[in-house]
Amino acid sequence: MPKPKLVRVQAAAKVNLSLQVGALQPDGYHPVETLYQAVDLYDTLEAVPAVGISITVQGEGAEAAGNGPSNLAWRAAALLAESAEVEPNVHLRLTKRIPVAGGMAGGSADAAAALVACDALWQLNTSRAKLLELAGLLGSDIPFSVVGGTELGRGRGDQLTTVLAKSEFHWVFALSEQGLSTPSVYAEYDRLAPEAPAPRVSAELLQAVAAGDIRQTAKLLDNNLQAAALSLRPDLKRVLAAGADAGALAGIVSGSGPTCAFLARTREQALELAVRLQASGRVTRTVVASGPVRGTSLLAVEY
Ligand code: C5P
Repeated sequence: MPKPKLVRVQAAAKVNLSLQVGALQPDGYHPVETLYQAVDLYDTLEAVPAVGISITVQGEGAEAAGNGPSNLAWRAAALLAESAEVEPNVHLRLTKRIPVAGGMAGGSADAAAALVACDALWQLNTSRAKLLELAGLLGSDIPFSVVGGTELGRGRGDQLTTVLAKSEFHWVFALSEQGLSTPSVYAEYDRLAPEAPAPRVSAELLQAVAAGDIRQTAKLLDNNLQAAALSLRPDLKRVLAAGADAGALAGIVSGSGPTCAFLARTREQALELAVRLQASGRVTRTVVASGPVRGTSLLAVEY
């Protein structure tokens, strides 16, 4: 079989319709129950043969993502090579559209993309279960970034169960110039609410999503990390208020923030909402995206 000269993949951003967080555990993580949805905002990654690992990054927040071994895509390639006992020989070309440190799984998408791309480039045929296990070692949200769709995440967020989602969901994301670090938001969460109960995504929300009831879904969006994100970034209150004023069905901080996500009834209304948010002067940049979509997909393999 000829060896691929190039593999191209894309990986989707995510939003948490619900993020329920329990108390800090001795391992430094929090048990969560979360309802993830992948949306059609993608980072793309090309993998080509090389000697050793190298990466070039362009696009949204390229400098912050970094082009060294700390980049999650690099770490994913190294982990896959180690696990499969092959030489880590790949050059990665990453094009970012998902904000870095934005609460939309931008870094996780890149790691998922690298796992899938290197698996194809090195012709490993890694099983789905093994790929998800490696993804979970790299980060809590990375298994979801591989799978996508609408999934319930348990454990650290890495244990996935597929959930029925009948409708398409149309979102407007208000992006922030400055990122928020996930560990610092969790630390603020501990400071604000150390007596967190066992995390549960509400059955009502799961029913609303299964039925494609957008209005009811909007009422039930819930993020336990929101208060912590707002405590670290009080300016986000103005962003959420701008969404309410502009007619969003609901607004929520996405994951650990600082991106804010607003739900609209239709794609047209999402586009109108984005225009109104920009006009409000309280939001500098918006992205309209819809879900659910696949997490990471192979776009091309060239021989
Ligand atoms: O798993 P990941 O590397 O993405 O997690 C980054 C940080 O977020 C962890 O070091 C931890 O501080 C926090 N975290 C957590 N509980 C989770 C997921 C992440 O406390 N379930």
